[in-house]
Amino acid sequence: MRINGRDYRTIWLADDGWSVVVIDQTRLPHFFEVQSLETMPAAAAAIRDMIVRGAPLIGATGAYGMALAMRQDASDGAVAEAFTVLDATRPTAVNLRWALERMRRRLLAHPPAERAAAAYAEAAAIADEDAAVCSDIGDHGLGLIALRAAKAPRDRPFQILTHCNAGWLATVDWGTALAPIYKAHRQGIPVHVWVDETRPRNQGASLTAWELAREGVPHTVIVDNAGGHLMQHGMVDMCIVGTDRTTRTGDVCNKIGTYLKALAASDNGVPFYVALPSSTIDWRIADGLSEIPIEERAEHEVTHLTGLTEAGVLQTVQLTPAGSRAVNYGFDVTPARLVTGLITERGVCAASEAGIRGLFPEAEQAA
Ligand code: MRU
Repeated sequence: MRINGRDYRTIWLADDGWSVVVIDQTRLPHFFEVQSLETMPAAAAAIRDMIVRGAPLIGATGAYGMALAMRQDASDGAVAEAFTVLDATRPTAVNLRWALERMRRRLLAHPPAERAAAAYAEAAAIADEDAAVCSDIGDHGLGLIALRAAKAPRDRPFQILTHCNAGWLATVDWGTALAPIYKAHRQGIPVHVWVDETRPRNQGASLTAWELAREGVPHTVIVDNAGGHLMQHGMVDMCIVGTDRTTRTGDVCNKIGTYLKALAASDNGVPFYVALPSSTIDWRIADGLSEIPIEERAEHEVTHLTGLTEAGVLQTVQLTPAGSRAVNYGFDVTPARLVTGLITERGVCAASEAGIRGLFPEAEQAA
């Protein structure tokens, strides 16, 4: 995507050809800054501290983290160590384990002397594929939007609600949920996006709003509890969200609060779509509620808020009374029955085992 007249992805190699550069997402939307990652532990910290976030980008960063590790030590032990450290950074997004397993397979097929080069090549392939896959998701989602927009009221733009950030910042490029919106906007379909602020870290208010503003897509930020009201009043034509892990049966794990939006959508007859690359499908599991580990993050993210002061500096302030406890579940699970369809790189399918297998018949071998 284009920032300040330059095309950016969210992760790339520096001019030295080996250090890895990422956009520091903890500084957005107020400051656009990049960070250089030069060691595997630095890549692990960037994922853990959410300098990079979003399931596909976490996967790509994990892959480059393996490559950084291989520069220092390419022994079998170092492959195992890098896998363990990177895999432990965040538990819910399955793209991380998917990318690490792919890297490990590729590395162990080479003698140690060839592993650093093989690791950089594989990490680059993962990043390039993610960008291409997200563009394909955009094309398939665009078809859906065009179809539904043609039947929607003509006196206003087509209204789409999204939760959290599943835009290009969450992936290598394009995004998942936002890719169809970008493509629709570029095709001249009038769209307007309701952006859930997405407490506690506010990825909607800070990242999605920033992305949409950069692309000139009309949008309005709403508090997390507003979606149901808007749907009751016919102000939402379609929901599109991303996902961090989807079971092979179509249960969707996504940022906390997604389930409530799906319930409201179902109650109001609003189509609820989930956009995802197949690397987000966990072929091993069938029941999202009992089998997906839900990340619990620090209480501090709930009890405190960070924003820009009038003096132009980022400041964190306390919201709750001293001593009040908070709990911070990062994700929830939306059962497949509440999902209208999955938008994947191969097309749109029902959120069901049969629907997913119809698009990915080879998946059984992967399970
Ligand atoms: O905790 P995060 O910011 O890494 O969460 C990721 C998300 O933004 C998602 O919930 C998103 O919808 C899926 S990633 C494309």
